[in-house]
Amino acid sequence: MVSGLMLVTFVVLVAYALATESGHIAKSAGRVTPQELTKSQLFKKPGVEVKNQGAGGTPTAEVHVLARTWNFNPAEIILPVGAQTTFYATSEDILHGFQIQHTNVNIELIPGEIATFKYTFDKPGEYQVICNEYCGISHQNMLGVVKVLGSSEFAAATAPSASAVSPAAIGEGVYNANCAACHQAEGQGLEGNFPPLAAHAADLYKAERNFIPHVLLFGMEGEINVKGVTYNGQMPNWDSALSDEEIAYVSNHILESWGNKEALPKDFKPYTPKEIAAVRKDALTPQDVHQARVGLNLP
Ligand code: CUA
Repeated sequence: MVSGLMLVTFVVLVAYALATESGHIAKSAGRVTPQELTKSQLFKKPGVEVKNQGAGGTPTAEVHVLARTWNFNPAEIILPVGAQTTFYATSEDILHGFQIQHTNVNIELIPGEIATFKYTFDKPGEYQVICNEYCGISHQNMLGVVKVLGSSEFAAATAPSASAVSPAAIGEGVYNANCAACHQAEGQGLEGNFPPLAAHAADLYKAERNFIPHVLLFGMEGEINVKGVTYNGQMPNWDSALSDEEIAYVSNHILESWGNKEALPKDFKPYTPKEIAAVRKDALTPQDVHQARVGLNLP
């Protein structure tokens, strides 16, 4: 009787939340296999699309989010206040969550299933996005943010001139949004899981200039050893998520931070987006990159 009563209570509470607390359930917007994500209309370019902003009437927005271990793409979503926003979200690998704090947006991201959800942000502010499905060792660092701006702030933040951020700031931003979850804020890595970049990236650079861009673009799979510690994590590929600029500037950020700069050769020249565009054509597999690393003469 007690267990029966509990079930009835839960059903009543769910019905109450759906009817009066504006709770609702994410709908399916179709299916897609992870291999076809880059070709799919909804996810070939994840990001935010705002329509009708500043044109009188109500602005609308579409947000296309891809989740994978352990980041959201895009990690930062900028929206104008009051925009009727439709989210399309899915996962590239395993189960993740997409929960926006202080809202009722809480979507389970199932690989293969495209979830869609509508929400309107009525108050400007920063809303943290968290993954609420336990997805592995860096689950707790899988974070994003929705920045809701007043219409003039939104116009300023998304104006073409606003993208004239310094390369160093772009590199640091890309690192913090995508790399720090595993390689940690100071590049110290996580022993046994994610290799350090501090006191190590310069060695990689000196062994082979293209190696760091290769790892970033194509990922790496296989066991490696750094200073006597074995690592067997899987480095994801970033060729579809990050632009030539972003790959170039985050590589420079890694090589110029945490004491790495001092260990670089005197004639070090930072990577340029043009150089990355050329390296991108190498189209390696994660196994190729691992083979190349095994062949490097690393200390
Ligand atoms: Cu993704 Cu937890």
